[in-house]
Amino acid sequence: EGDVFKYYSEGEWKKSASGKSVAIINPTTRKTQYKVQACTQEEVNKVMEVAKAAQKSWSKTPLWKRAELLHKAAAILKEHKAPIAECLVKEIAKPAKDAVTEVVRSGDLVSYTAEEGVRILGEGKFLVSDSFPGNERTKYCLTSKIPLGVILAIPPFNYPVNLAVSKIAPALIAGNSLVLKPPTQGAVACLHMVHCFHLAGFPKGLISCVTGKGSEIGDFLTMHPGVHCISFTGGDTGVAISKKAGMIPLQMELGGKDACIVLEDADLDLAAGSIVKGGFSYSGQRCTAVKVVLVMESVADTLVEKVNAKVAKLTVGPPEDDCDITPVVSESSANFIEGLVMDAKQKNATFCQQYKREGNLIWPLLLDNVRPDMRIAWEEPFGPVLPVIRINSVEEGIHHCNASNFGLQGCVFTKDINKAILISDAMETGTVQINSAPARGPDHFPFQGIKDSGIGSQGITNSINMMTKVKTTVINLP
Ligand code: G3H
Repeated sequence: EGDVFKYYSEGEWKKSASGKSVAIINPTTRKTQYKVQACTQEEVNKVMEVAKAAQKSWSKTPLWKRAELLHKAAAILKEHKAPIAECLVKEIAKPAKDAVTEVVRSGDLVSYTAEEGVRILGEGKFLVSDSFPGNERTKYCLTSKIPLGVILAIPPFNYPVNLAVSKIAPALIAGNSLVLKPPTQGAVACLHMVHCFHLAGFPKGLISCVTGKGSEIGDFLTMHPGVHCISFTGGDTGVAISKKAGMIPLQMELGGKDACIVLEDADLDLAAGSIVKGGFSYSGQRCTAVKVVLVMESVADTLVEKVNAKVAKLTVGPPEDDCDITPVVSESSANFIEGLVMDAKQKNATFCQQYKREGNLIWPLLLDNVRPDMRIAWEEPFGPVLPVIRINSVEEGIHHCNASNFGLQGCVFTKDINKAILISDAMETGTVQINSAPARGPDHFPFQGIKDSGIGSQGITNSINMMTKVKTTVINLP
């Protein structure tokens, strides 16, 4: 089995003692594209042990040197953009240009994190005691931020490189070591990205990457006593992890049902453009995709017409041709999406396009006149299918948005900024975008979900902070 990609432990590329591999299925051809090692629990133990040791000396490495290595890794990552993008095309069917963008964005994220780390970790606080009642000025308190230890990073398939480095870079700049468990689809892109960090010359054992079956090493990793923090992006698995994990900080981002509210006074061309981009880019497989449109009845016909005109222009086909709509990640995902579509059909939603599917490729579909009794009104398809619900008042739209068990982002289209701010206040989501589609970036903005959408806040600055804890030293004067 010479063609099985090796995993990364102790600064070396290794074969698993299991002798087993995990197949990565190309979503387009539906054939095995690559294979990765199926690591064992003993191999996970080893990685945890070396991560602990490596972290001790790394935390004493000067901050500027840590930053320098990250800048180096960022540059190497960008140099390797073509082969990594190719993996993204083959493993997750990301359109060719978007695949390159993901790698470049990742390099930028690593560099920015290095700079931000130098800024925020390079300073602490100085407090005096006599501001609290009853105290004289006899105590000086010095604060600094210290690393947590070993960070476990688990990114999802849709941004295997970018959502890995958004965890790796803050962990490392803050003086932590890092164990990465890539998603199966996207594992090879992850391994290649890790290779860039290897080439940059980080100390042995500081970064490890274990591949394998979730059933074999998933719980073992997340419940491992050697882990001091878990940063996870993905689906329901995150809820299960949060129930099983120990008393450690968790950073979780778990999907959404981002609503797009369109008012009567909205710029409908702008709204239609954002709905198509927000709903259909990467075939809707983004946690921040527009997942339900809530439009005022009086402008609904016009908006739907404008959206349909743009949907008609989307290209559908293989990611190699840089088509807008490409096959969804797996057959089970395609089946799930089809289930939502069939449910809507049975309950008489209006199909703006004909439903069409070939293998994992699903043609873009706008469903109008969706009602709350349809599954698509609430569930996250993670595919190129977008429901439109017609509303008669803003309150109705807000109510639908807030009735969801998700609360990642939302957006509102109106020319009345005062109204937009009030609606933003009323929407129970981590972020509200005014006059644009939901999005995580720019990557230094805070990014968070409420309810089932997550725990904690991400974005470069917040991630660095959450991967540290405050340490204080108090000088007691005589
Ligand atoms: O899929 C979840 C990502 O965090 C969304 O990122 O808004 O840049 O597509 P994005």
